[in-house]
Amino acid sequence: MDAEKVKKTIVVTGGAGFIGSNFVNEWFSCYPDAQVIVLDALTYAGHLENLAAAQKYAGFKFVQGNIADASCVQAIFAEYQPEALINFAAESHVDRSIHGPGEFIQTNVNGTFNLLECARHYWTQLDAAAQAEFRFLHVSTDEVYGSLEADDAPFTEQHPYQPNSPYSASKAASDHLVRAWFHTYGLPVLTTNCSNNYGPFHYPEKLIPLVIQNALAGKTLPIYGDGSNVRDWLFVTDHCAAIRRVLASGRLGETYNIGGWNEKTNLDVVKTICAQLDALAPRQDGVSYAEQICFVKDRPGHDKRYAIDASKLASELAWKPQETFESGIAKTVAWYLDHQDWVRAVTGGAFDAWVRQQYQ
Ligand code: NAD
Ligand code: DAU
Repeated sequence: MDAEKVKKTIVVTGGAGFIGSNFVNEWFSCYPDAQVIVLDALTYAGHLENLAAAQKYAGFKFVQGNIADASCVQAIFAEYQPEALINFAAESHVDRSIHGPGEFIQTNVNGTFNLLECARHYWTQLDAAAQAEFRFLHVSTDEVYGSLEADDAPFTEQHPYQPNSPYSASKAASDHLVRAWFHTYGLPVLTTNCSNNYGPFHYPEKLIPLVIQNALAGKTLPIYGDGSNVRDWLFVTDHCAAIRRVLASGRLGETYNIGGWNEKTNLDVVKTICAQLDALAPRQDGVSYAEQICFVKDRPGHDKRYAIDASKLASELAWKPQETFESGIAKTVAWYLDHQDWVRAVTGGAFDAWVRQQYQ
């Protein structure tokens, strides 16, 4: 990245979650003298353990707080005078949004609104040079575009918004707010819409880590419907690199799709995980973990297929993913086998209650 464009002080909301923590840890690896203020409410999905690497750097600061709390966000802007805010904070699990959509509206819509308003008031009082430097980067999802049929072209940035779940509707609403704050107030915003991430620190409620953990525990591997739904998988470090690129060089007010060019059915993903585990941690009875696969009741409104066309990011900002699904899933399975202490630390009582509610 162009050295003069690196932001010295950034605020990262949701930085104790899966993608945010990978982003912060990598930011310090790239820029050891940086200052990063993580603002995170530490919901069930946020864990300071994810940030152990970042906490070793002098420039790391952590604030436990809610992105919807205006006084908290204003105080961070006033104290640290950041050159960018990267918004990862969200309620992120589609299944939880079906059971209880209220939190999704509160955080994803009202929270983003509050961040935009606080950023606007802060940005308005900066001098011209600092105004030109400032960025508000909003991390969003491909789910805002809806669902594709098997032979449809992948989503481009021009695809109409057609969200189908409470989660994706709340993210779509937040994207529209970000767009409006650019057009109406001139706030220097960037939006990224990304496909399914996987990798270290992925909370075990999501398909890939859930399947790894259930397999090791001898439990069933629950596949919704017939397993033919398709997702595009992106290794989390590739996503973080793309965000750094957009932050440094993205055109103001633009949206950038980020994807892995790795479309897989859920059944293929689960079988691949089973094959990795069979090789690295075989069952004592010699039987494949694939024997634990179990087809369960489908997710209501389950989107059939997501696929991202990331060619704008490739042509404008010369980004492309480094990992194939095969290399990324091998790293992921190995990471979970090596980090069972982390899994124990971030799961337990409330997680077990969620699993009972969702799967029994
Ligand atoms: P996550 O659920 O693992 O982490 C979310 C983080 O936000 C947690 O640390 C949580 O404590 C924090 N948070 C939640 N509500 C908050 C609030 N009101 N105030 C402050 N902090 C709060 O999510 P993730 O998978 O890391 O996703 C990060 C972002 O990327 C989200 O905006 C999500 O919509 C988007 N995204 C995720 C994926 C994916 O595959 N995981 C793909 C595309 C886009
Ligand atoms: O596409 C980007 C989105 O990817 C992000 O915006 C979301 O924050 C993120 O959670 C993810 O959403 P998905 O719903 O695609 O991810 P999840 O891991 O929950 O499910 C992946 C697929 O696997 C999906 O088709 C549902 C299916 N699934 C999931 C679970 C948890 C199962 O078949 N069984 C399961 O137990």
